[in-house]
Amino acid sequence: MQVITDPAALGPYFGGVFVPTMGALHAGHARLVECARDLPARREAPIVVSVFVNPTQFNDPADLARYPRTLEADVEVCRRAGAEVVFAPGISAVYPQGSTSPPRDLPAVATEPQLEDAHRPGHFAGVCQVVRRLFELVRPRAAVFGEKDWQQLQVIRAMSEQEDLGVEIVPVPTVREHDGLAMSSRNIFLSPDARSRAAAISGALCEAGAARTVPAAQARMREILLAAGLVVEYAVVREPRTLMPLPADATHGRALIAAQVRSGAGMVRLIDNAEWRVSPES
Ligand code: PAF
Repeated sequence: MQVITDPAALGPYFGGVFVPTMGALHAGHARLVECARDLPARREAPIVVSVFVNPTQFNDPADLARYPRTLEADVEVCRRAGAEVVFAPGISAVYPQGSTSPPRDLPAVATEPQLEDAHRPGHFAGVCQVVRRLFELVRPRAAVFGEKDWQQLQVIRAMSEQEDLGVEIVPVPTVREHDGLAMSSRNIFLSPDARSRAAAISGALCEAGAARTVPAAQARMREILLAAGLVVEYAVVREPRTLMPLPADATHGRALIAAQVRSGAGMVRLIDNAEWRVSPES
């Protein structure tokens, strides 16, 4: 397996399957690489994993400063999962001459739902900017993204269609801990107490499945999160692709949660989501 920092060395790996990451890789990322390996689109094409902590998608400088950087361990995760290349560029390779221009028109799903877009202003402009730039450098035929960042997945899908980027966007289901907590690079910031309370997030998504209307599902999720002492940013059921509100009597949608857990002296922000569907009356 190759570790490449200079984009000029990527030529032999064009046309592969791309797994963009910000490093601090865990079993959820390993699953992205394994899914990339098994894609029909792969047809012997190489798997390229990028490790780049993109400063333009952080709206909080403290969050950027403390984001874990673990390149040596990341390379090992990629090797074991079966990648051919780890692309770990420096900032000047991704943004030459300090260029940080955001994309022209963000898709509606990046600005209208009032979910991550409202709670992390500027985040999706940075994500679109870096993904488009990485696509330019890596020139993949397909790219895989985890469903855990559901709104990000819809934003990238919409941007690729809108700008006709010619890259197939492949979603990969969330990998969970034994108690349901979605794997995330931020989980390492959870104290044992916060870690056990954070399990309420996947619990709430699960419980929402028993509700028969959108408002009832939303109320039930909020109740469970508050009972676990979490600070709720949103707990909603939305249209799965546009992420806009649904009528109260909708029978299918995507349940999405963002909540903060107190951990020691600080707060850790976690997000998760799941399909929501009213089950037929028995
Ligand atoms: O999901 C992530 O890790 C990042 O947002 C991504 C897609 C690698 C862009 O920096």
